[in-house]
Amino acid sequence: MNNKTIITGIQPSGVITLGNYVGAIKQMVKLQENNNSYIFVADMHAITVPQDPKVLHNNIRNLLALYIACGIDPEKNIIFLQSENEYHANVSWLLECNTPYGELSRMTQFKDKSSKNKNFYAGLFTYPVLMAADILIYDVDYVPVGIDQKQHVELARNIAQNFNKKYGETFKIPDVYITKSGTKIMDLVDPTKKMSKSSDNPKSVIRILDSKEEITKKIMSATTDSECVVKYDMENKPGISNLINIVVSLTDLTIKEVEDMFEGKNYGEFKKYVASVVVEELTKIQEKYNELINSNELDIILDRGAKITKEIARNKYNLMKQNIGLYK
Ligand code: TYM
Repeated sequence: MNNKTIITGIQPSGVITLGNYVGAIKQMVKLQENNNSYIFVADMHAITVPQDPKVLHNNIRNLLALYIACGIDPEKNIIFLQSENEYHANVSWLLECNTPYGELSRMTQFKDKSSKNKNFYAGLFTYPVLMAADILIYDVDYVPVGIDQKQHVELARNIAQNFNKKYGETFKIPDVYITKSGTKIMDLVDPTKKMSKSSDNPKSVIRILDSKEEITKKIMSATTDSECVVKYDMENKPGISNLINIVVSLTDLTIKEVEDMFEGKNYGEFKKYVASVVVEELTKIQEKYNELINSNELDIILDRGAKITKEIARNKYNLMKQNIGLYK
């Protein structure tokens, strides 16, 4: 992919996981070379569920430092904080008034989250519209995300198409971008569900700032099966397949090459190898993160991002107002 405009965001709702890294950040690092890329901290999405203000505040800064530590180059990306650009919420409202209730009710993430906690807030329901605003403001071609966000990007497409039809050409229609390495990374304890930042079981999730010992322990105790054959079969061997996916997403190896490397070997040997691959990748990131977290470089980056994105967002907001018939 070359000369395209792309955008992605991550919620600062806990230290990011290996899933976020593989599903979103690693893709952006590859794509930043030849594209016009935006990456932001989706802090307004994080508050769709209750957050402790102090913890949230720290998580925002940590995520920003992690973006850069993971290889997001501030010279090649526009990096910004969603809440610093108030036009996102304004655009979101104009889109909300043009989004059918029925379409929002079909979002599987909403159904899943609202079924777990019945006392949810309205923002959890309208969350995908804010996400559509994030995307549509910047006239992007592609949105690199993990597969769990595909439905939300498709909704953004529908919202844009309907808006253009109703009010005239206003938005570019975005496409979702999911690479092979964007395959969903699964929970280590229950490999039938995705590895999630908000998981309650620490053994389920590898976090980018986990120590070498924690990473190794978690991978060595990951759920597998009793067959003792390193073979990719997501349906019947989800645990081993997930570990193969982790290796494939962090190295240049293919699934077949990993299977061949471990033919006749036991799961213990395979897991040790998986742990070594993850530790190698994350140690480099952690070293950079420690250098960055207290530097004022982060504030300079945010100021620049806010300035550039506000200008673009203001123009889009004004165009929407004009097309809708609001007084401008
Ligand atoms: P969030 O914070 O849940 O996840 C951030 C990114 O990580 C991907 N991801 C995964 N990929 C592979 N395996 C996993 N286990 C895994 N878990 C998460 C997600 O697909 C996502 O790409 N609503 C978004 C944030 C957002 C956004 C946007 C993204 C807000 N506005 C506009 C793109 C464009 C979210 O909650 O992602």
